[in-house]
Amino acid sequence: MSEQGSVHTVRTSDGQLFEPGYGPKAALLTAHTRHEIDGFIARFPLGRQRSATLSALRFVQEQNDGFLTPELMDAVAEYLQLPPIQVYEVASFYSMFETHPCGRHHVSICTNISCWLNGAEELLAHAEKTLGIKVGESTPDRRIFLKKEEECLAACTGAPMMMVDHVFHEHLTPEKLDEILGELK
Ligand code: FES
Repeated sequence: MSEQGSVHTVRTSDGQLFEPGYGPKAALLTAHTRHEIDGFIARFPLGRQRSATLSALRFVQEQNDGFLTPELMDAVAEYLQLPPIQVYEVASFYSMFETHPCGRHHVSICTNISCWLNGAEELLAHAEKTLGIKVGESTPDRRIFLKKEEECLAACTGAPMMMVDHVFHEHLTPEKLDEILGELK
């Protein structure tokens, strides 16, 4: 990666130079977010910057405390020089992205078969009671979003389990769950 005056380029995996778009839309991205996105642009050959979309959206969501806005998705499209629809498609397809305002820590308690057999429903009820919200809602201080997760998270041997900001926590008990949620700032 290099900065040459106002021309900012990223060396791609095939040794070429890609110049990210940096107009008024991409200006919404922080320097940190742009730096992180550049790291992913660099992993692919020139012309394949679309492959960096998923990672770019992850950093942008983090920048915005837990959710994406149309303006931020447009910013990613401009930076990666992609049609905005390609960015919207990724954001709406993957359940890791939220496109409505919600809490900054995403908590998904798995209630699929193995977790259900090991007490997930009771755990979910416990979390709802502790946080004072229902699944699909965020705490008023926007600290926690109790996210609905449709599918098994593929950690059945650790049931019951939950995912917090993409980190798995397994063999949960109500006490362990309280401890983990309490540590989220
Ligand atoms: S059922 Fe919960 S991780 Fe598989």
